[in-house]
Amino acid sequence: VGGTALGARAAGGGGSAAAGPLVFDPDAYTRLTTTVTDTDGTDHAVTYHFWKAVTYVADPVDVKYQSLNVSVPVEIDGTAVDASGAPILFANSVGGYMPSSVADATGIGGAGMGGGMPGGGAPSGSPAPSASASAPGANGSTNPTGGALDTNQRLALAAGYVVVEPGARGRILKDSGGTYYGTAPAAIVDLKAAVRYVRSNRGRIPGDVDRIVSAGTSAGGALSALLGASGDSPLYEPYLKELGAADASDAVFATGAWCPITDLEHADAAYEWNWGTNVTQSTGSTVDQAVSKQLRAQFAEYQASLRLTGLNGFGPLTARTYDTYLVEQYLEPSATTYLAGLSAADRAAYLAANPFIGWAGGKARFSWSDFLTHVGARKKTAPAFDAFDLSTGENNEFGAGTTGARHFTAYGARHDTTGLGSRRVAADIPAKLRLMNPMYHLVDEPNPHRAKHWWIRLGTKDSDTSLTVSANLAAAAHRLGDEVDHRYYWDEGHGANTDPGAFVAWIAEVTG
Ligand code: DHB
Repeated sequence: VGGTALGARAAGGGGSAAAGPLVFDPDAYTRLTTTVTDTDGTDHAVTYHFWKAVTYVADPVDVKYQSLNVSVPVEIDGTAVDASGAPILFANSVGGYMPSSVADATGIGGAGMGGGMPGGGAPSGSPAPSASASAPGANGSTNPTGGALDTNQRLALAAGYVVVEPGARGRILKDSGGTYYGTAPAAIVDLKAAVRYVRSNRGRIPGDVDRIVSAGTSAGGALSALLGASGDSPLYEPYLKELGAADASDAVFATGAWCPITDLEHADAAYEWNWGTNVTQSTGSTVDQAVSKQLRAQFAEYQASLRLTGLNGFGPLTARTYDTYLVEQYLEPSATTYLAGLSAADRAAYLAANPFIGWAGGKARFSWSDFLTHVGARKKTAPAFDAFDLSTGENNEFGAGTTGARHFTAYGARHDTTGLGSRRVAADIPAKLRLMNPMYHLVDEPNPHRAKHWWIRLGTKDSDTSLTVSANLAAAAHRLGDEVDHRYYWDEGHGANTDPGAFVAWIAEVTG
């Protein structure tokens, strides 16, 4: 039972004024209407109840981020619907490990990056008058994922599901004393606290609190995967206690993760294994080949240590076999689906423009090296994540105290160019990495309370991280016996979500 002490205490309240800081008020909604265009292009009129900026911890550090919105459909195309037992889509809008706030949203899907600057400096993007638009973040940074996530949420609402949109602290938040309060593990702790809040309000928040389906893209996809992998892990307990999180389970039932930027401490090596032969960056500069080769060598060791095998009977996944695996398991099927969906004329044109693809018997075939040439310039330099000059968002994500950016790999620390006294990672880093990496909870210490259903998606032209990252996540979950639906979107880049209708149908299937 999720409710425990808090639920029991609140139960006597009987729908009157909230009985405590973590008691959801079923009556505190506004009634809104929206039009949701489904994937067939059909419009649906949806009336829903909207709860805004509900603080989800008793001792918040920053309510702007530690609050959530709830949307519950009550009428779809003129027919009353009862969502009291419906699945709950728990959709974060984190991008770039930045802060994400839902506090200014005026309806479902209105989350931006929440202003970003500490102290509320820059205003956040416009409050999304059209809920289908993605919301720009502050500092000129746009959450690349806003549009995709927004689509999931709106389609879920029109399918009759409850949608919870949590905010979360992010890496750039700093208090007046210069202390960073949104770096790792703040975002995952916040999302867990939000899940606990929902669970502890069983019977007050509409929806089935035992059918929470998490979703997120990129850094948000990483956090969604982590939420799925680390459910009820005791490692987070001290952090949750400090925030006054509700006393309830933070396990989620299923996980949706789009282009998850995760397994960060191994991502530099994986990146060079994948994109290392693409020596030119999209900026036009050439990547340091010595660094690339050293990192690439590290990948072989790491990948071997996982002892994973591929889906569908593919053997061991190693640095030697992974190219074949990606091509056969993911890339050729992705191209096949794409090409099969084109008209004969468009297909012929595409194949003429891309002669590296063989098309026979309704199937696409090509080599890994031709695929890499097709993708072309890589997005990031080497190392892609733990930069020698501490310049990446991930360096900031592993900042602590008044230090805004730190190394989180031995290799990065050893090659530091910022004049640090120590050439080693800080003593607290290994524990922080465990708190941030779903692979720890799937491989090192398999977590029995993890999500058992995984929806993972990634564009084939997404070079924000290695294509192996999500494939490893899928293989690790699959090895534990979980149901895994992992596909790559052909020729799509970072943040793509080209089958949101299928995701919403999948929710019904796995929660049914
Ligand atoms: C995101 C993208 C990145 O390339 C990265 O390193 C971290 C996060 C993002 O889009 O969320």
